[in-house]
Amino acid sequence: MKKLNLTDKRKPDYFYSEAIKTLRTNIQLSGQSIKTILVTSCFPNEGKSDVVLSLAQELGSIGKKVLLLDADIRKTAYAGRLGVEEEVKGLSQLLSGQVGLQDIIYETNFPNMDIIFGGPAAPNPSGLLSENIFKVFLKEVREYYNYILIDTPPIGTVIDAAVIGRCCDGAIFLIQPGSVRYRDAQKAFAQLERSGCRVLGAVMNKIDTSSDKYYSSYYKHYGEYYRRSDDESQK
Ligand SMILES: Nc1ncnc2c1ncn2[C@@H]1O[C@H](COP(=O)(O)OP(=O)(O)OP(=O)(O)O)[C@@H](O)[C@H]1O
Ligand SMILES: [Mg+2]
Repeated sequence: MKKLNLTDKRKPDYFYSEAIKTLRTNIQLSGQSIKTILVTSCFPNEGKSDVVLSLAQELGSIGKKVLLLDADIRKTAYAGRLGVEEEVKGLSQLLSGQVGLQDIIYETNFPNMDIIFGGPAAPNPSGLLSENIFKVFLKEVREYYNYILIDTPPIGTVIDAAVIGRCCDGAIFLIQPGSVRYRDAQKAFAQLERSGCRVLGAVMNKIDTSSDKYYSSYYKHYGEYYRRSDDESQK
C-alpha cells in the first residue's frame, strides 16, 4: 500500500473539535455493527467533506482503524485540500474496472487513517455506484477497518447518496441552519430513509457562534485559554 503525506491546512477550532468528539462518541454508542457510515446533506457546501475528514482523524486518534472513502465522484475534494501533489488513483477507476483495490487505498500520516480518493469525474456516477462492484468492494473493506466514513454529494441535488445508502450501515445528515428550508430537509431525510439506510442522526454545521451570546462568551474564554497554552508550549 502506498503512503501519502497529507497536510491539513485548517486552523484548529475548539468548538468544532469538541463537536466532532461528541459526534464520534455518539457513533461509537450506535453499536459495533455500525461500520460503514455515509455523510450527506441537502445542498452543496454545507460542510460534509470537512466533517468526514475531522471525524476520520478523530476516530483514528483514539486507535480505531478508519478508512475515509470519497464517494463524491462528481467533485472529488480531498487531494487538493490535503496538499497531495502527485497523481492518485481513486474510486471511479475501481468501479469502472481500470484498477484494483490495492491501487486505490493509501495509507496516510494521520494515525490509523487510510484514504480512498474519488478519482477522475465519471460521466455516470450514480450508474457506477449502483453496480454490484461497489457493494462487493464495501463488503471487502469492512473486514479491515473499524469504520468506513463515506463522503457523498448532496442528496437534495443528486441521487448518489441514496444509492450508496443501500449498502451502508448508517447515515449522518448534515444541516446548515438558516440555509435549508424545513421542507427541503424533510424531503432529503425521507429520501435517505427510503434507501433503507438507518439515519443515525443529524448534525448542525456552520452555526454562527458570534451571533449567539452563550457561544460567543464561551468562545472568547476558550480562545484565550488556547492561545495561552500555545504560548506556553513554545517556551
Ligand atoms: N463548521 C464550519 N464553519 C465554517 N466553515 C466551514 C465549516 N465547515 C465547512 N466549512 C467551509 O465550507 C466550505 C464547504 O465545505 P465542504 O467542502 O466540507 O462542504 P461540502 O458539503 O462537502 O460541499 P460539497 O457539497 O460541494 O461537496 C469549505 O470552504 C469549508 O472550509
Ligand atoms: Mg464535499
